Amino acid sequence: MLTTTLDTQRLRLRRYKPEDLQDYWEIGHSDYEIIRWLTGASWPPLRSELDTVAQFALNADPEIDNFPFAIEHNGALIGGVEIQKPGDLKEFPELPTIGYWLSQKAQGQGFMVEACVAALHWGFSREACDVFGARVFATNYSSQKLLKKLGFEPAGVCLRYSKPLQQDVENIIMHLPRDRFEALHGDAHVMMGAAL
Ligand SMILES: CC(C)(COP(=O)(O)OP(=O)(O)OC[C@H]1O[C@@H](n2cnc3c(N)ncnc32)[C@H](O)[C@@H]1OP(=O)(O)O)[C@@H](O)C(=O)NCCC(=O)NCCS
Repeated sequence: MLTTTLDTQRLRLRRYKPEDLQDYWEIGHSDYEIIRWLTGASWPPLRSELDTVAQFALNADPEIDNFPFAIEHNGALIGGVEIQKPGDLKEFPELPTIGYWLSQKAQGQGFMVEACVAALHWGFSREACDVFGARVFATNYSSQKLLKKLGFEPAGVCLRYSKPLQQDVENIIMHLPRDRFEALHGDAHVMMGAAL
């Protein structure tokens, strides 16, 4: 059974709880500065949409489903990171992907690098794959900076319809080879011991 709690130096990644819903709404789902960079959410925000996301998050099977981790700092929800099974990248249908968001207040402190390193160790182990993928808007420079720190490299471009922006947006497709990730951020089994 895969663990669903990952502790890092400053953070805990864990399964979402029903009590997270209000905070998720306030610090993430109803903040345009977060939602404008994600393709799937409506703007203006809909509580019913968040309820659907939350229902899935609460019941996700860590062995096979897209698995969203809540990111907690000092006991408070500050964001989320999701390990997604292959399917998001039509151009690379075999690759699992990663998605993430951080509350505005929590940005600029290196929390997302820390969270993504833990989530990717978990993800590489679950998917047993050699490469992870990601997709980022061509104008999302802070996310591109983060992906580069993790070891991702550009691998192509694509157009995707953005629900909040209601238009097609140019995206950069990024690849993270497992050996490059482990050279930069350690080996999963060493980092996480028996937890995997
Ligand atoms: C993308 C996003 C997660 C990046 O957040 P972030 O806080 O900038 O990410 P990081 O964890 O990499 O933090 C890096 C910043 O923390 C700073 N920092 C401070 N203390 C640090 C520490 N101990 N370790 C590392 N970095 C630290 C870094 O200098 C860097 O700041 P800089 O960009 O001004 O140089 C955030 O902007 C976000 O949620 N955006 C909206 C949603 C989104 O775009 N999702 C991704 C779609 S592809």
